[in-house]
Amino acid sequence: MELARRGLNVVLVSRCDEKLRQVAKEIEGQYGQKTHTIRVDFTHDHIYPFVAEQLQDMEIGILVNNVAMSYSDDFALFLEIPSAEQKITEVINCNTLSVAQTTRLVLPGMLQRRKGLIINISSQVGIHAQPLLALYSATKAFVIYFSQCLHAEYKSKGITVQCVMPFLVSTNMNKMKSSCLVKSARAFAREALNTAGYSSYTSGCLLHAMQSFAFGLLMPDWLRMSSVFVGKLHTTAQQRKAQRGAYKEDYTLEGIEE
Ligand SMILES: NC(=O)c1ccc[n+]([C@@H]2O[C@H](COP(=O)([O-])OP(=O)(O)OC[C@H]3O[C@@H](n4cnc5c(N)ncnc54)[C@H](OP(=O)(O)O)[C@@H]3O)[C@@H](O)[C@H]2O)c1
Repeated sequence: MELARRGLNVVLVSRCDEKLRQVAKEIEGQYGQKTHTIRVDFTHDHIYPFVAEQLQDMEIGILVNNVAMSYSDDFALFLEIPSAEQKITEVINCNTLSVAQTTRLVLPGMLQRRKGLIINISSQVGIHAQPLLALYSATKAFVIYFSQCLHAEYKSKGITVQCVMPFLVSTNMNKMKSSCLVKSARAFAREALNTAGYSSYTSGCLLHAMQSFAFGLLMPDWLRMSSVFVGKLHTTAQQRKAQRGAYKEDYTLEGIEE
């Protein structure tokens, strides 16, 4: 949306036809920019020839590697990941393979034109390793290293690779409402895009830069990684889960349909 607001045509990629149609309509109606939609599921590894075909003959000036998924609605031990065998592959494909493969498809065109911007969305849990989100946190660390190395490899050829590491943004992923601590998606996108070209490694906005600094001070690695702290965090998450379960039971006992 923010890219369209700034006058760019947009290629939208997601799993859901309905959502793609709706966003494309909004962009075309509101900003008068052209759109092209590609429906793919990034949890699969065989989709890239199709994506390549869809992008053929298009001049992609800015690539935003935004797609990612989590696997639990709360903190959980690695072996508590639901349907772990399948989920592990899906999360790695969606959060890391997509970044490398899509970059592989788009970068050659940028190199030919000797200009291009790749924005890779990581997370603060990619910088500050987060126990009880082990797999997600590790995939976000991949995005940081990949971005930094790629930036070093290609900046002399006119390509900027920026890594954005947000704290909390109000989206479908975390289902939080925006507040003084949680940025709205629109406000975040606007501020983060203003940093493109100025910073290749950023929290994306001032609020998140301050939160990152404070988090580093208040929650140093030794504390975040200590068994006692992780144990307490896990117990609290388990209690929240039990409460949610109990709430659901009360709810159904009253005979109210979900
Ligand atoms: N929200 C936060 O607090 C937060 C904090 C730090 C970092 N981040 C990062 O910010 C980025 C955006 O996340 P978000 O919070 O906006 O999450 P989101 O609301 O769940 O959006 C994720 C996007 O990825 C797409 N997507 C998810 N799984 C997909 C799949 N298998 N195939 C194709 N598309 C898929 C979704 O589209 P469809 O559902 O339509 O397919 C959606 O457009 C992610 O990289 C996330 O790690 C978010």
